[in-house]
Amino acid sequence: MKRSFVLMLAAVIAASVAARAWAQQPISIKFSHVVAPDTPKGRAAEYFKKLAEEGTKGRVKVEIYPNSSLFKDGEELEALQLGSVQMLAPTLSKFGPLGIREFEVFDFPYIFDSYDEVHKVTAGPTGQALLRKLDAKGAVGLAYWDNGFKPMSANKPLHKPEDMKGLKMRIQSSKVLDAQMRALGALPQVLALSEVYQALQTGVVDGTENVISNFYTQKMYEVQKYVTLTDHGYIGYVVIANKTFWDALPADIRTTLENAMKDATRYANDIAKKENDDALAAIRKSGRTQVIELTPEEKRAWKKALVKVHTEMASRVGQSLLADIYRETGFDPTKF
Ligand code: LMR
Repeated sequence: MKRSFVLMLAAVIAASVAARAWAQQPISIKFSHVVAPDTPKGRAAEYFKKLAEEGTKGRVKVEIYPNSSLFKDGEELEALQLGSVQMLAPTLSKFGPLGIREFEVFDFPYIFDSYDEVHKVTAGPTGQALLRKLDAKGAVGLAYWDNGFKPMSANKPLHKPEDMKGLKMRIQSSKVLDAQMRALGALPQVLALSEVYQALQTGVVDGTENVISNFYTQKMYEVQKYVTLTDHGYIGYVVIANKTFWDALPADIRTTLENAMKDATRYANDIAKKENDDALAAIRKSGRTQVIELTPEEKRAWKKALVKVHTEMASRVGQSLLADIYRETGFDPTKF
């Protein structure tokens, strides 16, 4: 009896000390990401910081570390699990190493035709169920943020899928993207985003795929002669927090941060398309990279060449998840 009373007393004292500590100094949130500040994710992270610090009247301080300045690809997720960083927003392509393969369903070629179709999944039960898978990995899934649809780039013009044959292409750490490149006869190579410019410049890889906002802000247009607007895949993000940190927040602070995240998500999704459109205009103006637009027939050839990835990789993400997304978006692989 005495021992359990002493233990309970110790727990109460520890909690009150912690509460007092939180009351005395700002709660620090390190938010690390791998893209430039002037991108959809970069701007949304800054907006979240503004809302979080204003909403908590300074009780929370958000420190943003862009452009892999704190942790780069391959380091971020472990850093979050260890509590060295409190928030991240990795692409949906980067959760395989965490043991969550299902997010790679967003990498399926041409599975989404528009942001609206993506939102039917991310804002619905399927997207919310996927976020809950993060709990078992020490993370909390807070939101989905848009970026855009990917072109292919290389130092040779890419008009037909056959033009990809033999090219060494940088990809993110997604087995679906690996299968996508192999379906085109290309050789996929996983590299951190921070290493892509130099790899393209030195010929370690011949080309890559990425949203135009990254293609521009990472200056890939300086080292790629052609970019083809295939729109073959989607890049979006899951904003995550360290679960122990998030669950230990004072309830009022957590509620304020949740509301800040809701507004930051709306902002992120509102600016995503324009950010990419503006980047494309800047690339055209630079004259450094020729922008190739596909005719409807040419785009159909890319779809036909890539649809087999859906069959090949269905078991990786789960047939039922894929069927759910087909149903929610109206995607029909036979219609390619
Ligand atoms: C990448 O290619 O690694 C990027 O898409 C990452 C990002 O956060 O946009």
